[in-house]
Amino acid sequence: AGVFTYDPGYTSTAACDSTITYIDGDAGILLHRGYPIEQLAAKSHFLEVCYLLLYGDLPKAAELEKFENTVTRHTMIHEQIHNFFRGFRRDAHPMATMVGVVGAMSAFYHDSLDINDPRHREIAAFRLIAKMPTIAAMAYKYSIGQPFVYPRNDLDYASNFLHMCFAVPAEPYEVNPTLARALDRIFMLHADHEQNASTSTVRLASSSGANPFACIAAGIACLWGPAHGGANQAALEMLREIGTPDRIPEFIAKVKDKSSNVRLMGFGHRVYKNYDPRAKVMKQSADEVLDLLGIHDNPTLQVAKELERIALEDEYFISRKLYPNVDFYSGIILEAMGFPTSMFTPIFAVARTVGWISQWKEQLADPQHKIGRPRQLYLGPTQRDYVEVEDR
Ligand code: CMC
Repeated sequence: AGVFTYDPGYTSTAACDSTITYIDGDAGILLHRGYPIEQLAAKSHFLEVCYLLLYGDLPKAAELEKFENTVTRHTMIHEQIHNFFRGFRRDAHPMATMVGVVGAMSAFYHDSLDINDPRHREIAAFRLIAKMPTIAAMAYKYSIGQPFVYPRNDLDYASNFLHMCFAVPAEPYEVNPTLARALDRIFMLHADHEQNASTSTVRLASSSGANPFACIAAGIACLWGPAHGGANQAALEMLREIGTPDRIPEFIAKVKDKSSNVRLMGFGHRVYKNYDPRAKVMKQSADEVLDLLGIHDNPTLQVAKELERIALEDEYFISRKLYPNVDFYSGIILEAMGFPTSMFTPIFAVARTVGWISQWKEQLADPQHKIGRPRQLYLGPTQRDYVEVEDR
């Protein structure tokens, strides 16, 4: 017996304290360690943001160089893991492969499993941040029947990812620096978002003392859902399905009809009741990238912008404070880079890994941390006696 606060969906429960990320959902503000996301997206780069999230401050030049070198040294995965990929069907969703492969890392890296050893924790963090792009790219290559491409440590984080996804042994491949910069910005915009569903999943898994690879595999599994990271794939598929701006009113009517169970994907957020600051940067970036690639009048971008305009003037969306979120425009950029929609959520997972790891580190260092064990309001039958099968 006991008295519990009933809070389904945790709309009003703080499960931890944290010094990593601050969100003011009403004002549409997102800060990492105090720095506004807009400034980071414009001036920083992904590995610097990783350092900031992990260690609490922007690195000095020598610290940054050392950090980047260490991440780079860990980009290869154990050769035996290649066999693990080969056990999957070629048509497996890359997220399915990633959940499996990242979980399987527990079986390969015995020197980074002991969560009570700071050295183990540190190597696990580097391994996960460094290897996640390799794993995502391999999941992609496997799904299209192309050979795996090994990481190139002379390239920066985003360029190396593009290389591993799009290079083929038969032909030379030059990374387009515009695309690399745009991808790096997408990574920054997804790096952390305080106690979202996947991060809370990582923290809950870790609260039992589970090893870091198992915890991050749990986070990837949670991220996959369409209400969370899977929304970027769902949003682009929705925009494609709408196809042309004249079909938007019909689609909006379907969304407003609750019996249809159709939602406007890439719209709405538990915390933001204002324009998602990440979506603002993403929208601008979509314009810039398509422009630089010489893609004018992209029909998907046209539908997205018109859909946003109509929704933001519609009473249904206004009264519920539904605005575009980070997933609304990201797919348009990723599509222009040549990624299929099935790679959108894996790219989110690559970027969010640093957030998961930073939160995991913070949790383990918190003297107050204990196993996560929610209670319930029991509504089932009261005690009754077992009845033999022939008497039921
Ligand atoms: N389209 C239509 N109606 C919506 C939407 C939407 N995208 N989002 C919320 N609503 C309505 C919902 O039907 C409800 O209406 P009513 O009060 O009449 O019942 C009201 O708004 C509140 O919705 P809720 O489901 O109680 O809100 P929530 O805070 O639990 O859900 C959300 C947040 C993100 C799951 C939801 O907005 C959603 O499903 N959005 C679409 C999926 C999406 O884009 N997810 C990405 C989130 S951001 C990045 C990430 O995490 O990956």
